[in-house]
Amino acid sequence: MDFELTDEQRLIRDTAREFTDREIIMQSRENARNHRFDVDLVRKVAEQGYLGAIVPTEYGGAGLDYLSYGLVVEEIGRGDSAIRTVISVQTSLVCSGILKHGTEEQKRKYLPKLCSGEWIGCFGLTEPDTGSDAANQRTRAKKTDNGWVINGAKMWISMANYAKVALIFAQTDPDLGHKGIACFIVDTDQPGFKPATIEHKMGLHASDTASIALEDVEVSDDDVLGEVGGGFKVAMSNLDSGRYSVAAGCVGICRGCVEESVKYAKEREQFGRPIASFQLVQAMIADMVLKTDASRMLVWRAGWMKDKGLPNTTETSVAKLHATEASLECANLAIQVHGGAGYVDDHPVERYYRDARVTTLYEGTSQIQKLIIGRAMTGVNALVPA
Ligand code: CAA
Repeated sequence: MDFELTDEQRLIRDTAREFTDREIIMQSRENARNHRFDVDLVRKVAEQGYLGAIVPTEYGGAGLDYLSYGLVVEEIGRGDSAIRTVISVQTSLVCSGILKHGTEEQKRKYLPKLCSGEWIGCFGLTEPDTGSDAANQRTRAKKTDNGWVINGAKMWISMANYAKVALIFAQTDPDLGHKGIACFIVDTDQPGFKPATIEHKMGLHASDTASIALEDVEVSDDDVLGEVGGGFKVAMSNLDSGRYSVAAGCVGICRGCVEESVKYAKEREQFGRPIASFQLVQAMIADMVLKTDASRMLVWRAGWMKDKGLPNTTETSVAKLHATEASLECANLAIQVHGGAGYVDDHPVERYYRDARVTTLYEGTSQIQKLIIGRAMTGVNALVPA
């Protein structure tokens, strides 16, 4: 792997950095305070090409390689994880799935509008009683003469209130287990599609999170993404992209923690000198740098493998596991460097801490990432009783 970015990749990264500084940083505290899903900012992100970063230009995307996508997501993640979540869901969980599994007609119908931000997408896998055990879908899709009718419920779905397009996973034949699951591209204007905001989250206050009730939602045969029975694999391959994106965003949180801590430590004086001169403060900063650099290297490795077309599920889980846990540890350390000032939202480290917390939960908990890695190493599936 070549660690030197190309001129184009540096330009992409620097552009995303300037965009984050100019458009995101200023808004993020107020949006979090007001629990505001910032539609105008989402539109600006779309104009930058970040909602369809890895989608080829012929379908309206930016046509970036995965490494460049990761560079963009790191920058946005440094600014605001709520906006980074929009990119991760729209680009990785929705667009990458349609790109990989969709028919030509589906790609032409959905991708340009998703990439331009005209349509928002959401990913409906998780249910009230189905989290880590994603194959155990309770939502049912029943065959009709004209297509399918879906009944069930989804939970913790980012952007469900704003989405025009929802990828909904549902069981078509419970006897078949995960081989009975199908993924449907659902128009959320359909009667029976009912999102409801989930209130009182610990973090990601500027991100929209909802449950969805599905009551006799009708879809046609043309709305099946991939094969009937192949929905679980669609979900897993979308998550291979989504977990990479979450990991890259967490590198951004880690870096933000370093930058904010260095700045504060040089300004803040105690015992007659800047706290940056104390060895214990420097040790905290060094710990953060270590976690940031290691996380970034793991993200780059996963991105490089994706760009080479190599199998990378394990490496993506390694990157996701390390970067998400590191973001939480860095945010904790950064608050420690800031002392009392880090406990209020005058500095971004308070928000980093709250926003980082969900990243070890969504798109597969840290424990699920460990089981994926453990199974790859041992060949033994710990989820199947011996
Ligand atoms: N790509 C393609 N196919 C894959 C795959 C991948 N990465 N991983 C597994 N598969 C295939 C397997 O090859 C297998 O295929 P066969 O039927 O041909 O053998 C099939 O899928 C079943 O695989 P497993 O035996 O591994 O399935 P499992 O039931 O043991 O589950 C799991 C594995 C890793 C625990 C999985 O259920 C999982 O990832 N759980 C966590 C779910 C998750 O991340 N949810 C987050 C939802 S998104 C979100 O957070 C909401 C949001 O809006 C942000």
